[in-house]
Amino acid sequence: MDGTRPENRIEDGRGLSRNPSHFTEGHGNPATAAEITGRSIVKAGQGEPSWAVGGSYQVIRIIRLATHFWDRDTLDEQERITGRRRNGRWLDGAPSTEGAVFATDPQGRTTPLNSHVRTAAPNPRTAPPMVRRSYNYDRGSDDQGLIFSCFQNDLEKGFEAVQRRLQGEAMAKYTLTTGGGYFFVPPPGDAWLDAITDG
Ligand code: HEM
Repeated sequence: MDGTRPENRIEDGRGLSRNPSHFTEGHGNPATAAEITGRSIVKAGQGEPSWAVGGSYQVIRIIRLATHFWDRDTLDEQERITGRRRNGRWLDGAPSTEGAVFATDPQGRTTPLNSHVRTAAPNPRTAPPMVRRSYNYDRGSDDQGLIFSCFQNDLEKGFEAVQRRLQGEAMAKYTLTTGGGYFFVPPPGDAWLDAITDG
């Protein structure tokens, strides 16, 4: 399936693009190479086979977004469902590059408890151990959405924990997962392996 990343760019170390929901995607990812590697690359001593060290577990999900239905909602509704403004700022006005402050909003009056980002990452201190880098797809007006792609070194702590939490989120009524799978991305070679195991 062909995918695109409209408005693809790097800002403050994060790869950003425009999601099929028209929101900026990528703000919640880590910004440094060390953090990206720490969340995504299998390390020695993690209990994985030695040939897996230096590789990454990838999850792909083909998620259709009911764009006609979504596009009928007001921007304010879409932002409350997402939990961020379209440009990535938080709903309390804080810049996109800052961590979320949910502690002062326990009832979810500013950022609803069932919004996408608050369900995916309810505790701003413990970011989900995964790195997302997706593509948009467009196979005609009835089939548009996200080729969701994420990398992690532990499927249970990464994708599976987040996906379980997302059950019942406000965005769920707009999405339908039609395909996908789990993949292993092997390490690129000995030089890379030496570099990450040495430090
Ligand atoms: C069509 C489906 C989806 C749409 C439209 C969508 C959209 C978004 C948007 C706009 C953001 C905020 C910007 C950002 O941090 O990237 C976001 C954040 C996030 N999404 Fe999704 N997403 C979708 C599916 C998923 C799935 C399937 C997962 C994981 C199972 C997921 C996990 C996350 C996580 C972990 C964050 C960051 C939360 C944070 O750290 O603040 N998303 N998503």
